[in-house]
Formats: sequence, structure tokens, C-alpha cells
Amino acid sequence: MIVAPSVLSADFSILGEEIRAIDEAGADWIHLDVMDGQFVPNITFGPPVIKKLRKCTEKPFDVHLMITDPDRYIQDFADAGSDWITVHYEAATHLHRTVSLIHDLGKKAGVSLNPHTPASVLEEILPFVDLVLVMSVNPGFGGQKFIESSLKKVSKICDMAKTLRPDLIIEVDGGVTDSNVQMLADAGCNAVVAGSYVFNSPSYSDAVASLKV
Ligand code: DX5
Ligand code: ZN
Repeated sequence: MIVAPSVLSADFSILGEEIRAIDEAGADWIHLDVMDGQFVPNITFGPPVIKKLRKCTEKPFDVHLMITDPDRYIQDFADAGSDWITVHYEAATHLHRTVSLIHDLGKKAGVSLNPHTPASVLEEILPFVDLVLVMSVNPGFGGQKFIESSLKKVSKICDMAKTLRPDLIIEVDGGVTDSNVQMLADAGCNAVVAGSYVFNSPSYSDAVASLKV
């Protein structure tokens, strides 16, 4: 299991130190939640902040864009040092073009689905993407309860990927803890995002280790 702590629940006044700490704690990727106050009812940070944070770790930056019309900013997020760039299916009108743009910039491309969006919408785009990010909460905030039906969605995507994209990363984001990570792995998930579970834990390394199933 790839473990990607989300810094959304970190102390933003010492973000660089928090990133160094989760790097040392064994995080595989650093998950960065970008919110625009339009696609989701919250605002976080953008490319200039990511660019500064790039100096704090060599771990891959897993950038989750919760923004409308993401094409406008793909170049900026690539230049800032993103490794994985994930856009929302619901926010991109010309998704194939967006995915191509991410690849043209030498980055890995992901597509995220909100809880209400069925796995079936992925059929045509799946051969072109490197990662699917299944939202197991409604995006916008950390610390929400895991939506159980996400497990079934992960299984469906896993089945689709067998023929359409065998090396697909299926990442799950929202309400992930040590109590549901094994079920997620059994369903076919091979990467998890965890915000509040890791950052509210007294030991980041114990929390990260408990997710490596
Ligand atoms: C929610 C974000 C998540 C969030 C997860 O919109 O995409 O990455 O940080 O937080 P937890 O793990 O607390 O549910
Ligand atoms: Zn996220």
C-alpha cells in the first residue's frame, strides 16, 4: 500500500516542518489538496506554496486539484514540482485533453471521482490515466466519515482496470484509518490518502506504519 498523508490536517504555520516529519515517518507520497472555493467550499493553496514546499522533501508530490477548469493551471502545477496531478472528472469538460496536457508536461495523470459519480464513467478514459482517486468523502474538508459504498466502487474500478489499464493506481481519499485500510486493500486499492488520521496521531510514524498493509 502506498501511503500518502494529506497535509490538509497539518499545522499550516509550520508546513515545511510537517512535511519533513511525515517524510521521516515513512510517507511514500505527500498529498497536497488544492481547493479553489468554487469546485469545493474551501480554499487552500496554489503553485507558489507547492514550489516552496518542494525544497522540504524528495518524496513525490501527489497533487489533488479540487478546482474548476483545471487546464488553466496544469502548467503552473507542473512547474511547481508536482509529480502526480489529479483532476476531478466533474470539473474537467475535456478530460482527455487535460490528461494529455499533464502527460505532455512529463507528469503522471490522475482522475478523481466524487462519491456520487459512478465508476462506469471511467470506461473511455481509463486506458489513458495512471491513477484513479476515489473520493470516500465529499471533497472540501478533512476529518469526515468514510462512505462505506466506496469499497464497492474500488472493486468495480479494479475489475475495469484488469482489461483497460492493468498497472492503474487506485487511490482512496477521505476517512481512511487503520480500521478500514485492510478492507480497501482487499477491494483492490493500492494507495491511500490519510489526513486527520496521521496528523492527529501522537506518532506520525506509527500512524503511517499502520496503513502499510
Ligand atoms: C478532502 C481531501 C482529503 C482530506 C482527507 O477534500 O481531498 O485529502 O485531506 O482528510 P481525512 O483523511 O481527514 O479524511
Ligand atoms: Zn485529497
